[in-house]
Amino acid sequence: MKKMMKKFALAVACVTTVAMFAACGGKEDEAKNNEQANVIKFGTNAEFPPFEFVAANGVIDQYDGIDMAIAKQIGDELGKTAQIENMEFDSLLLALQNGQVDAVIAGMTIDPERAEEVNFSVPYYTAKQVMIVKEDSTIAKATDMADKKIVVIQGYTGESCVKDMGYAYEAFKKGSEAIMELVNGKCDVVVIDSATAQKYVGDNEGLKIVEDAEAFSSEEYGIAVNKKNTELLEQINEILTKMKNDGTINELSAKYSEQ
Ligand code: ARG
Repeated sequence: MKKMMKKFALAVACVTTVAMFAACGGKEDEAKNNEQANVIKFGTNAEFPPFEFVAANGVIDQYDGIDMAIAKQIGDELGKTAQIENMEFDSLLLALQNGQVDAVIAGMTIDPERAEEVNFSVPYYTAKQVMIVKEDSTIAKATDMADKKIVVIQGYTGESCVKDMGYAYEAFKKGSEAIMELVNGKCDVVVIDSATAQKYVGDNEGLKIVEDAEAFSSEEYGIAVNKKNTELLEQINEILTKMKNDGTINELSAKYSEQ
């Protein structure tokens, strides 16, 4: 009996060890498998219209938007199948660093802190933070937010802006949740990127956008790539530059902003 137990314990230990090794090697193996399978895996957070959102008929599976169309074209030009991995915005750079995805395309602002962790492509879109308020709101500039209930989205540059201004705020995980909070009168202002703000204001009655160019400087979106993967970065830069110069990115922006 004792012997059997010992054997059993040994077997369990072996299986566990093998499973552990498999799990540890998994991420890097996945990146290698992707290469072999001719797949390029993009990480995104599909909660950011018009750049990425879930739709019945997306350009890549159920994912649609400006970024998704760019990802699709990058895949096509590289002769690879573009795949999307949808995750929380906060998890994207980690997923890139551990090889779970090959690139991150998520309306992500190029900023120095992030650039310490990953490499950014050439910029492909210029944006800025804006304030979304109720139509009858008296907020006309950023300092008017001082005594108001501010909502931001967790991990977005809008959060850092408001934090730097020294104002108290509440952070939500999704833009759509933040907007519901505003529509329901539970907060006074949502700070978020301009094009996304325009989408939300178009889709919900009774809201308007307030800009403050002095308070919010312009931001540029880039595609993030693992620091080790300089070859992919060069390829992406080449394709993005072409898509900017031949008007493709402008066309995509116009198309998805109108919808
Ligand atoms: N531009 C902002 C940032 O980089 C917001 C991006 C949000 N993107 C998304 N796919 N949810 O922080």
